[in-house]
Amino acid sequence: MKSDVRGELLALIEHLRSYVLYQEALGLEAFPRSTLSPQTLTVVREELGDCHRCRLSGTRKNIVFGEGNQNARLVFVGEGPGHEEDLQGRPFVGKAGQLLDRIIVAIRMKRDEVYITNVVKCRPPNNRVPWPDEIACCYPFLEKQLRVIRPKIICALGSAAAQTLLHTEAGITSVRGTFHSWQGIPVMPTFHPAYLLRNPEKKKQAWGDMKAIQKEVETAT
Ligand code: URA
Ligand code: URA
Repeated sequence: MKSDVRGELLALIEHLRSYVLYQEALGLEAFPRSTLSPQTLTVVREELGDCHRCRLSGTRKNIVFGEGNQNARLVFVGEGPGHEEDLQGRPFVGKAGQLLDRIIVAIRMKRDEVYITNVVKCRPPNNRVPWPDEIACCYPFLEKQLRVIRPKIICALGSAAAQTLLHTEAGITSVRGTFHSWQGIPVMPTFHPAYLLRNPEKKKQAWGDMKAIQKEVETAT
């Protein structure tokens, strides 16, 4: 039985190899990304599976893939699940999530209209920041989620999300407040709600960022 599977796999690889060589002979230099892009979030979730690509799988209780509207005009990207999110398997359901909920209402939207996810889908132990290799393992799934949704605006919550989406090492303070771009989609970085809970004096700036997002969401075609 085992050798059957192995033989089948080898035949498949050989088939794929000859197909790629054939395409190359026809002049194809690379496969267009669109043909490799999934069409639905369900497919992306299935591909993630019971993920063990990085060490965070060893300590998580639940994968927190993300939730919301597949046709969302606005996507929020946080850092990674915290304690409550890990227990429930849902993003932003703890204290920071309650503040995010209030922010969403304040920009006249509903939580089920937007999509909410994180840079890493598993809780880092003690809520430490995710390490670069963990982010690297998880990024392809964030990329696929964003490609399926194709939102009008992305809001990066905190430094980890901003650094990941903008491929920068700059901190949130220097990038927040203006629109940047992720694969042609405007990205507004702003303070993480957990940071706002600890530093309420920053809420005024964050509110300015959210007003700018609201305006873009309402006017984007
Ligand atoms: N903080 C995050 O970055 N993400 C969550 O889902 C919850 C808290
Ligand atoms: N550091 C972060 O990671 N996020 C913030 O919002 C502020 C400081």
